[in-house]
Amino acid sequence: MTTSHQPEPGVFSDHGPWRIEIDRLAWARGLEALRAASRAEVAPLVKPRTLPPLRRFLEASLRVGGALLGWGLHERRRGDSESAAGLSRRLRLAFERLGPAYIKLAQIVSSGRGLFPPELVEEFKRCRDQVPPEPFETVRRVVEEDLGAPLEQVFARFDREPLAAASIAQVHAAVLASGEEVVVKVQRPQVEQQVRLDIAAMAWIAPRLVGRIPVAALANPPALVELFAETIIEELDFRLEAENMLDIARVLQEAGQRAIIVPRPHPELVTRRVLVMERLSGFSTDDVEGMRGAGIDTAEVVRSLYIAFIEGAIIYGVFHGDLHGGNLVVTTEGRVALFDHGITGRLEPKQRLAFLRLLMTGAVNDIRGQLEAFRDIGALDDSADLEAVARLLRVDEPVRDPTRMSGEELVRELQTVVKGLLAQGARLPKPLMLYVKGMLFFDGAMATMAPDVDLFQELARIYGYFAANHAERIRADIGFDPSQAHLDPRGLRASLGLEADVETITPAELLRRRETIRERLEKAGSE
Ligand SMILES: Nc1ncnc2c1ncn2[C@@H]1O[C@H](COP(=O)(O)OP(=O)(O)O)[C@@H](O)[C@H]1O
Ligand SMILES: [Mg+2]
Repeated sequence: MTTSHQPEPGVFSDHGPWRIEIDRLAWARGLEALRAASRAEVAPLVKPRTLPPLRRFLEASLRVGGALLGWGLHERRRGDSESAAGLSRRLRLAFERLGPAYIKLAQIVSSGRGLFPPELVEEFKRCRDQVPPEPFETVRRVVEEDLGAPLEQVFARFDREPLAAASIAQVHAAVLASGEEVVVKVQRPQVEQQVRLDIAAMAWIAPRLVGRIPVAALANPPALVELFAETIIEELDFRLEAENMLDIARVLQEAGQRAIIVPRPHPELVTRRVLVMERLSGFSTDDVEGMRGAGIDTAEVVRSLYIAFIEGAIIYGVFHGDLHGGNLVVTTEGRVALFDHGITGRLEPKQRLAFLRLLMTGAVNDIRGQLEAFRDIGALDDSADLEAVARLLRVDEPVRDPTRMSGEELVRELQTVVKGLLAQGARLPKPLMLYVKGMLFFDGAMATMAPDVDLFQELARIYGYFAANHAERIRADIGFDPSQAHLDPRGLRASLGLEADVETITPAELLRRRETIRERLEKAGSE
């Protein structure tokens, strides 16, 4: 499109359909005000209320209740796996009908191998990009309203069948009138209204969960709802998403990351509900055989993505906030094409520093330092008694392997820890939530893409990366120099519940351990 020799401000594909020049992006003006306005919408939406939005609430109860009833009448008596599969399928259908908030929840569950029943995880994977799409006429209407021109005038071709359909949007392959191959992300028209009602319903439920279910309080439901509201409201304006794409691309470039590419947004065709961007394609993260066949080192792919994710968070304070299998593909060259930048994690400087301390103290097994960092990031009360927390978590005792405990013992242990933590004001703080969600993704992605690597060696490589690339910055930030201090694997060992003599552990083994614990807890809970 242009022939400027300015380097592009970010990490994109090698031969894109156009070049990005920041001052020529028509849609990028005035976004700061837009972002501020979208933030200002959140507080009134999540304010505590005495009544839920009744119709929506009833609808959700009926759909989920209907799924349970159908299962009770049909698959429930047909043996374990058929029963679980039946319930999972019915829940998936109910969630799809209920719309974006529920589809997002399903996407998170679909990353939780080892945490949720396998049938549910498998079934909910369909919510990543195979949700029933909107009819083409609806798509046409949204595109024409937002672009202000007939579809045929802008596009030489526009596929009626979407490539993918997920929570907020669906994505169609198209060719511009000027010949470039693109995809068009089109927002579902009902989403905006549904999302508002769902946030209101959640804001009603959240405080009611805290008092009743102790474990739920740890998850910090009111903050979860706030975060959900903040992120999804921003996600509803694709101009903000396009700006996020550029921010993430810039951070990746600054970090010298070559492992990841971001699609280029179109210089003009970006509106609130329509986002035209470069089309990228590749292997799904589940297609390990396909990748290996193409000579791709899948363990290296997931490692690079992991490093870039952590680096974005602790060094730049910006990271992809919605990693799941539907939002990335691996190109034939073994690079990760990252999609869906609607949710982008951003850390305030103070949060980033606490976070950086958290990971660095973890790496050298400085437990007191780690607890302080946890407190400073808001995971514990300011007045929390850190020594009491240390005792509660038995950090100074030899680790007891949870897979060697009985179900009853596990339940008892868990109850004690939960109660003790709650007494110290423990909760998942908002800045950590998106990060934890990302970790859930990596957990599953490692188990499929790098099942046999040794996690102790992985940790050493990751730490080595930060020591080699960011030692100076980290020292300036928090007075700790990773190139001078040695990694201490005891922290990793203890956090995984491994006893002192364990020298290696693979993601596949970890997954099996987690399954064992989950099954044991489930059994003990149902007796
Ligand atoms: N630039 C792109 N090139 C190819 N496929 C894409 C592109 N962007 C998105 N997709 C596909 O479309 C799906 C939905 O897009 P996404 O941005 O994730 O929407 P949502 O916000 O609804 O999840 C993605 O899961 C991915 O499969
Ligand atoms: Mg998506």
